[in-house]
Amino acid sequence: MREKIVAGNWKMNKTLDEAVALTSDLSESMKSSAKVKVVVCPPSLYLKPIQDVLGENAEIKTGAQNCSEYEVGAYTGEISAAMLQSAGVSYVIIGHSERRQYFNEQPGTLAKKVDLALQHELIPIFCCGEMLDIRERNEHEALVRSQVEKSLFHLPAEAISTIVIAYEPVWAIGTGKTATTQQAQDMHAVIRKHIAGKYGQEVADRMPILYGGSVKPDNAKELFSCPDVDGGLIGGASLKAQDFMAIINAV
Ligand code: 13P
Repeated sequence: MREKIVAGNWKMNKTLDEAVALTSDLSESMKSSAKVKVVVCPPSLYLKPIQDVLGENAEIKTGAQNCSEYEVGAYTGEISAAMLQSAGVSYVIIGHSERRQYFNEQPGTLAKKVDLALQHELIPIFCCGEMLDIRERNEHEALVRSQVEKSLFHLPAEAISTIVIAYEPVWAIGTGKTATTQQAQDMHAVIRKHIAGKYGQEVADRMPILYGGSVKPDNAKELFSCPDVDGGLIGGASLKAQDFMAIINAV
């Protein structure tokens, strides 16, 4: 059986006090539920204090929202994969559409980030997904296949086996407009098939593929019931403990 994962991408939200309070609430509620892996991805500045709040709670892992494409050195403002590893971080989101769109991150850069993350034993949550105009032109499948190919297909099979992919249609992010279950299932199947074509069915069958884009407590169950949807990458609804817990419980 594939691993189920629900990850919260807090993006650039919350003060430190608010982040700590949210973590305590989640930690309290999570104590007895374990059929899904839960990851919180706060701003990097809060990773350490959040780990302190989580303490012995092994049910919730931490993830960063980004890492540098460089290993070490004079790169003011950057945070390296090695630093994240040394701070006990488990996951790192790579290639979120907001990074592609607002920070001009290109597929080659993302490939370097993936490599560094893997070298430093971080699990990349690699994001892909199309803008609305691409879907309207019916080019979404080709685009997503090429995003996956350009940043991941240089990896050997052992490395790809540790990666998580998140399919996030850009038109569904923060808009309240969710992909239908059919649209989500179709794209997840396209991604899995593409992985299978390159690495074989067994590797593809083990890869968790998460859906992201306006996942809320009231639509999570339906989305997670799709055979190729293995959980979610949650933005807005991960900022409220009650909503995030409801989504976790929908897996
Ligand atoms: P929303 O859940 O707010 O649409 O954001 C999704 C997302 O971008 C998660 O990475």
